Amino acid sequence: MNVAAPLYEPINTLKPVAPGLWIVDGPIVRMAALGGSAPFPTRMTVARLADGGLWCHSPVAPDAALFAAIDALGPVRHLVSPNKLHYAHVAAWKRRYPDAVAWASPGVRERAAHQKIHVSFDADLGDRPEPAWAAELDQLRFRGSRVIEEVVFLHRASATLILADLIENFEAARLGTAMRWIARLGGVLDPDGKAPLDMRLTFRDRATARACLQRIMGWQPQRVILAHGRCYLDNAGAELRRAFRWLA
Ligand SMILES: [Fe+2]
Repeated sequence: MNVAAPLYEPINTLKPVAPGLWIVDGPIVRMAALGGSAPFPTRMTVARLADGGLWCHSPVAPDAALFAAIDALGPVRHLVSPNKLHYAHVAAWKRRYPDAVAWASPGVRERAAHQKIHVSFDADLGDRPEPAWAAELDQLRFRGSRVIEEVVFLHRASATLILADLIENFEAARLGTAMRWIARLGGVLDPDGKAPLDMRLTFRDRATARACLQRIMGWQPQRVILAHGRCYLDNAGAELRRAFRWLA
């Protein structure tokens, strides 16, 4: 099998998921791996808040057409880095929307400084939804790892869980040979997507992580949007139990 459709075409286009909720499949990004770099797909999520303002989760590399589509949707108010690996394009969006609040995930400021990527974050995400979006989105900090914490969101009206790396679900046909091997070794190949092995291994405080998962399950999500690979649009409860069985 070769790379027939590496991208989720069309890219940089708003795709409705539910009323007031869209995804944007972004360009391929490259990850340092095996002495080279391996390409893989990314995705952002956009929610429209009650006041019409837009909340943008894990912004992808933008282009003029995407900015135009976003402008037609509403004013960008929030740019969200959900974990310290997802922040690379926040700066480009902040330049375009200087009045938007750039929200930092745990450890992202330090990581960006270490990577010498300048991002002017304005505020830090916590374990509870911010007043600005609490009516539309629930939120928690998924704890239990000393290395990486992801801030997880639920779009309340559509019961949609929004994840970045806590579940990755790469479709083999969309990956090159190197990335396919990396995904297989990491246990993140569709349909059995989950957190990558190196991330799972950092969860030493499993009781805390299990408690976070319990809170998520209590939200009773109906679908799961992922930043990488095929989303789980059905049977979210069963998919979450499967994807997090490593915590059992
Ligand atoms: Fe990621």
